[in-house]
Amino acid sequence: MSVINMEQLLCEAVDYAKSFENNGEVASYIPELSYADRNAVGVAVVANNKKIYKHGNWDTLFTIQSISKVISLILALQTSGAEKVFSKVGVEPTGDAFNSIIRLETHHTHIPLNPMINAGAIAVVGCIDTPFAFHDFLELTRKLCGRNNIILNEAVYLSEKATGMRNRAIAYMLRTEGVLEKDVEHVLDIYFKMCSVEVNALDLAHLASILANDGVSIFTGERLVESWIIPIVKSIMMTCGMYDGSGEFAMKVGMPAKSGVGGGIMCMSEENLGIAVYGPSLDAKGNSVYGLRILEYLSKELNLHYFAGKSTKEYY
Ligand code: DON
Repeated sequence: MSVINMEQLLCEAVDYAKSFENNGEVASYIPELSYADRNAVGVAVVANNKKIYKHGNWDTLFTIQSISKVISLILALQTSGAEKVFSKVGVEPTGDAFNSIIRLETHHTHIPLNPMINAGAIAVVGCIDTPFAFHDFLELTRKLCGRNNIILNEAVYLSEKATGMRNRAIAYMLRTEGVLEKDVEHVLDIYFKMCSVEVNALDLAHLASILANDGVSIFTGERLVESWIIPIVKSIMMTCGMYDGSGEFAMKVGMPAKSGVGGGIMCMSEENLGIAVYGPSLDAKGNSVYGLRILEYLSKELNLHYFAGKSTKEYY
């Protein structure tokens, strides 16, 4: 059995990421996101021994953005069931950008290809069967992240709502095809709010740890996500969570993951580690450049790749 100094490893992972040129850009298509510090970088790990490890800007707040797509999918599955949800969205990778509209017109069905792209996530929000979808989403996010004072970043929400014309185009297209059955602006408002919830890397590591542990909190023993939902969500993350970078990420890092344009990526290992990184400088596909390097390093050093041979480890 190998014994690993996790604090030191996280430190090395950040140094490794920083040894490369920061050739990404902070997202600016939502104007309010452009104020982030492009050199910020942080990482947090919630381990199966109930220990928490963190380094760098692990407590910097940023908006969850597309990582919310995982939580909205859980909520839709929990409230509407798989049959309803997957009648409105597929489970196949696209190879297209996260905000692409093209397949809605050219694919043989008009349902979006998967719940991790914008079109699919908007369709999923339409499936959430509760009277107060955003309220329930926020409550679920707080529970999954283990922090009950998580809030909406009002400025980012208003900025995205004012400028989200592409998402509007997608949503109206979905309404035309009957994929969205509810009022378009109402669904979009919920979607924009979900993307604008403010978290830090440690919050996302907690969320990842719940998904790593079959929906159960390792701290309280409480079941927060029904067991049948976990393999659905994790396989969709594995194949579609990093958008048109999902194939390369699966090959290099080999864990189910989800990124957001706020700079976060969360992922989980088979050995029940919940891992999250923050770095708002993004590559052309909208994934954190520092985050990708950190996860590459951790996957290699800890042998976390799902398809690599395993040996027993202990963390201290
Ligand atoms: O819909 C949008 O444009 C954003 N609120 C979320 C996109 C996002 O995070 C894509 N991620 N890499």
